[in-house]
Amino acid sequence: MVNSSDRSPIKVCITLGTRPEAIKLAPVIQTFQQLPQFDTQVVLTGQHREMVAQVMKLFALKADHNLDIMQPQQTLSDITCRSLKGLETLFVQMQPDIVISQGDTTTAFAAALAAFYQQITVGHVEAGLRTDNILNPFPEDANRRLVSQIATLHFAPTATSVENLKTSGVTHGIHQTGNTVIDALLRVAENAPECDIPGLDWIKHRVILSTVHRRENWGTPLSDIARSFLDILERFPDTALLLPLHRNPTVREPLKAALEGHPRAFLVEPLDYAQLVGAMKRCTLLLTDSGGLQEEAPGLGKPVLVLRETTERPEASAAGTAKLVGTDPATVLESASLLLSDEATYAAMAKAVNPFGDGHAAERIAKIVTEYFA
Ligand code: UD1
Repeated sequence: MVNSSDRSPIKVCITLGTRPEAIKLAPVIQTFQQLPQFDTQVVLTGQHREMVAQVMKLFALKADHNLDIMQPQQTLSDITCRSLKGLETLFVQMQPDIVISQGDTTTAFAAALAAFYQQITVGHVEAGLRTDNILNPFPEDANRRLVSQIATLHFAPTATSVENLKTSGVTHGIHQTGNTVIDALLRVAENAPECDIPGLDWIKHRVILSTVHRRENWGTPLSDIARSFLDILERFPDTALLLPLHRNPTVREPLKAALEGHPRAFLVEPLDYAQLVGAMKRCTLLLTDSGGLQEEAPGLGKPVLVLRETTERPEASAAGTAKLVGTDPATVLESASLLLSDEATYAAMAKAVNPFGDGHAAERIAKIVTEYFA
């Protein structure tokens, strides 16, 4: 699969489907598109629609192809089958030298598999994250394991992810690059706008920023999380909750039912990434089940309580800036209360460290791909 050195541009196909992939691949797309040795095409599966469109606009990116697969209440099989078939047709037409996929979504898995079936080299961005529990997060931990088995180039963000890949039996093509989310964050953070939410007073209130969407939190855990938000708001009258709701009705409806109408709960539509970064810079504390926020908040010196039972990002906990608290309302309340009432605990967690990268991951990935095809 390695081509000769006097070749025409390396044909790169970068695939993405969801908002986190768009954020984390934006710096990669920008970097590859600026370099003459690459002919770079961007393919969207359309797993997400509005949430990806926001990111594409912010980073001034254009898709070359969009499979537009999204349907309301889509199942994992729906996403996989439609992406796999659509990508097969595209890859046969485009004949890329390398397909790049990111992370652990169904799009990432389907793109890697479709490329593998055409015997096209697969490059995996953010390779090697693991929780040691294939069911949690579901189905993401399985997706990233499966991609690792068929990828050729593994762009691992940290030393821990390099080790995880080796333990998974990957012997070749592992490169520690840093996480591209830090590249994206640094490109946006400098000029991040104020996050203006009607009625929310950033001076009067200590703002707790929260996002929740994970499948393993659907149902009872989601009700427990809502309960803990109400308890925190009650115990600390100077706090406000800023909760951008995911588009998925399975997530948004129970949260709306529990929290809408509370005078200090601000339930808003998904913020665009620049606004979200602006909100992260101003908030006091984050409560989230998102992977990306666990990586970004430490870089901005904000403590994160992780509303999950497992994490594939132990680097933030090890650095002392994130804490895994699960979804039990009493535990969440206790951990949040400590941070909101004890200055020393807060200060110890609010250290601006960045265990995930230095903002140059995309350049490293471009260099590795160039050398691979040299
Ligand atoms: C997916 C990823 C998850 C990632 C998350 C980020 C998988 C298995 N999961 O989960 O890893 O962290 O994206 O958000 O790939 N919707 C819209 N418009 C949008 C986006 C979503 O209407 O722009 C609604 C649709 O009703 C859709 C639903 O949200 O059916 C759920 O989207 P889906 O891609 O199935 O799963 P996520 O929970 O978003």
